[in-house]
Order: sequence, then structure tokens, then C-alpha cells
Amino acid sequence: MMHITLVIFFLLNLGAIQAEIVELRPGFYSETCPEAEDIVRGVIKRNMEREPRSAASVMRLQFHDCFVNGCDASLLLDDTPEMLGEKLCLSNINSLRSYEVVDEAKEAVEMACPGVVSCADIIIMAARDAVVLSGGPNWEVKLGRIDSLTASQEDADNIMPSPRADATTLIDLFSKFNLSVKDLVALSGSHSIGQGRCFSIVFRLYNQSGTGRPDPTIEPKFREKLDKLCPLGGDGNVTGDLDATPQVFDNQYFKDLVNGRGFLNSDETLFTNPETRGYVVQYRRNESAFFEAFVEGMIKMGDLQSGRPGEIRRNCRVVNSWEPAKLFASY
Ligand code: HEM
Ligand SMILES: *[C@@H]1O[C@H](CO)[C@@H](O)[C@H](O)[C@H]1NC(C)=O
Ligand SMILES: *[C@@H]1O[C@H](CO)[C@@H](O)[C@H](O)[C@H]1NC(C)=O
Ligand SMILES: *[C@@H]1O[C@H](CO)[C@@H](O)[C@H](O)[C@H]1NC(C)=O
Ligand SMILES: *[C@@H]1O[C@H](CO)[C@@H](O)[C@H](O)[C@H]1NC(C)=O
Repeated sequence: MMHITLVIFFLLNLGAIQAEIVELRPGFYSETCPEAEDIVRGVIKRNMEREPRSAASVMRLQFHDCFVNGCDASLLLDDTPEMLGEKLCLSNINSLRSYEVVDEAKEAVEMACPGVVSCADIIIMAARDAVVLSGGPNWEVKLGRIDSLTASQEDADNIMPSPRADATTLIDLFSKFNLSVKDLVALSGSHSIGQGRCFSIVFRLYNQSGTGRPDPTIEPKFREKLDKLCPLGGDGNVTGDLDATPQVFDNQYFKDLVNGRGFLNSDETLFTNPETRGYVVQYRRNESAFFEAFVEGMIKMGDLQSGRPGEIRRNCRVVNSWEPAKLFASY
């Protein structure tokens, strides 16, 4: 028995990179897989043609990956009998989507250069591409990340913010990652594209902070519209647009916040809270200032690392070493 355990232990560690903090840099794959970035962009573009919302859904993956133990594609691991991963944590269940777009990008990259490009880097490239292809800014991404060997639902539940979160809570949370108030507001501007569920806003429509009343900061005409979309006791999976131009990455989101037309509570409080309001007002007036701050925030968020060992996964949904371990177990 002990012998078997040792063999399995050996197999589990095969190919893993014993990393501390990895140095990330632009052009990391310029020798080993020069076409990687073009391939990923092509896949994102094709998917957007099929389903425009996939851009937003893919971009969101960077946030949910990087905040939980660094940008290591831990988010993409499917649950196993031994491991509850992040996909079913409170913030992700019935909400995160377009995992299959990342799978498609990974498969295409593997065809060109097998075993070279990490899933974690594909998320980072794909998020950037989704922004560019939606009309937002372009930037050079730093690459060289490794994929995690594990994932934790509990860690995700402990970290990811609730749609009820207010600006004060979010300032605190972001500061734990060395992200500033400016980063928080700029990165929230990602809600310039995409949709959210009624489930995420019914509390503010009907019972804000347990008052039994709606959030008074919602503009009345907008509230009427949201009440129709999300009636009390209705289907929590119905979705509404996060801003008035949900397929265009622009500063409309900030214009909406100033007009009391933020979709999520976490959005609108960025305008009502005096600590964050200045940035909201600035980005509403000046789209270039928003774009610049957004890029800076995405790069900082992309720098988050756990320092744990990792590997280049072959399939983003499973750890490589599961395969030999399973094979062995069947003998
Ligand atoms: C500041 C704290 C944040 C909170 C509290 C938050 C919360 C949420 C919530 C509740 C939704 C809707 C989910 C649903 O109803 O199913 C959502 C959607 C979204 N979030 Fe955030 N978010 C935050 C920051 C970010 C960041 C930093 C990014 C990316 C850089 C991001 C990107 C997105 C995108 C693109 C969507 C739409 C996804 C889609 O249409 O599939 N969010 N967010
Ligand atoms: C934030 O910065 C401090 C000081 O530079 C550093 O010690 C810490 O590890 C950083 N935290 C994160 C999550 O990057
Ligand atoms: C509103 O929320 C409070 C506190 O969470 C709860 O006690 C109360 O029953 C809720 N009211 C309604 C009408 O749902
Ligand atoms: C949304 O749909 C899923 C899967 O169909 C279901 O399990 C879940 O309960 C629904 N969520 C809400 C809030 O209605
Ligand atoms: C808008 O922001 C950009 C980038 O920060 C800055 O260079 C420019 O001067 C600003 N424009 C105005 C009109 O303030």
C-alpha cells in the first residue's frame, strides 16, 4: 500500500514546476509559440460573432481567476470527487459562463504548440482581446504564468465579492491585492459590457439593506424598467444589461452611474460614495482617462500570483497528473 502511494505521489508531481514567483513578460512565447496570441484572438472573435455576450463573459474570467490564489486558471478546473473547485462557489454558480470559449482557444493553441502555453495566460490574452474587439483599449499582456494543481471552492467563497457589496467593502477588498481606489473604479468599468441576473439585484429593488424598500438611489424610470424585468418572486436567471451599451466597451457605464442607472448595487455605490465618486465623474467626462486606468488595473490584476507550484495543463479543466494517476488506479 505504501509503495502504491509513493508511486501515485511520484506521478502526481510529474511535470509540475516548483515555482516561487514567476517572472511575467510580454513576448514570453515569441520563440516557443509565436502564433499563440493571434490564435486566441481569432477564437474570441469567432465566438463574439456567434454570441456577442461571450466577450463580457470571457473578460470576467480574469477577475474571478486572479482574485482567488492568483492568475493560475484554478477557476477552470472542474470539480472531482476529491476536490470542490471554484466553479460552484456562490459568485460563480449559474453565473460564470463561456468556459467552452477558453477550451476552444486552448485546443487551437495546443494544435499549434502542444504543452507550451498555460491556460492562465490564455485567460489573460482572451480578456484583453474581448476588450479590444468590443471597442476598448489595446495593450500588451505580460505572459509566462503556470496553471495551478488544485482549486478551492472555500477560498473563492471567502474572497469573491457579493453584488450587494458597497464601495467601502470593495475598497477594502481591492486594497488586500494592492489595488487602489482608482483601480477599483476603473476595473468596475468592465461592467461596460455584459449582463447580470435578476438574482443579483432583487434585494435592491424590493428590500435594500432589509428596509423592505427599494434602494432610493435608483433613478425612478430605470427602477420601473428593472421592476418589470425582475418582478418580486420572478425568475432569478433572467438577465439585464449592465449598462446602456452592453456590447460596446466605452464609458457609458460611468454616465449611467451618474444618472442613477447602475445595474448592480456595487456599481451605483461607486457614485454615491464620496471616496470613489471623483473617479466616476472623471471617467464619465474623459473616456481616454478611463481606458488608461483600466489597462493599468488589468495589468496589476494580471500580476497576482500565489507562488505555488504549477504546470502547463493540457486540458484547462483537469490537472495533467490526474490522467496517469487514474490509469494506475485502474490496475
Ligand atoms: C468590483 C467588484 C465587482 C463586483 C461586486 C462584481 C459583481 C458582478 C456581478 C454580481 C455580476 C453579474 C453576475 C450575475 O448576475 O450572474 C457581474 C458581471 C460581470 N462582471 Fe463583475 N464585479 C466586480 C468587478 C469586476 C471586474 C474587476 C471585472 C473584470 C475586469 C468584472 C467583469 C464583469 C463582466 C464582464 C460581467 C458580465 C459578464 C457576462 O455578461 O457574462 N467585474 N459582476
Ligand atoms: C502588496 O504589496 C506589499 C508591499 O509591497 C507586498 O508585501 C504584498 O505581498 C503585496 N500583496 C499582494 C497581494 O500582491
Ligand atoms: C427584508 O430583509 C430583512 C432583513 O434581511 C428581512 O428580515 C425581511 O423579512 C425582508 N422583507 C421582505 C419583505 O422580504
Ligand atoms: C437558475 O437556473 C439554474 C439551472 O437551471 C437553477 O439551478 C437555479 O436555481 C436558477 N437560479 C435562480 C436564481 O433562479
Ligand atoms: C483625458 O485623459 C487623458 C489621459 O489621462 C489626458 O491626457 C487628457 O488630458 C484628458 N483630457 C481632458 C480634456 O481632461
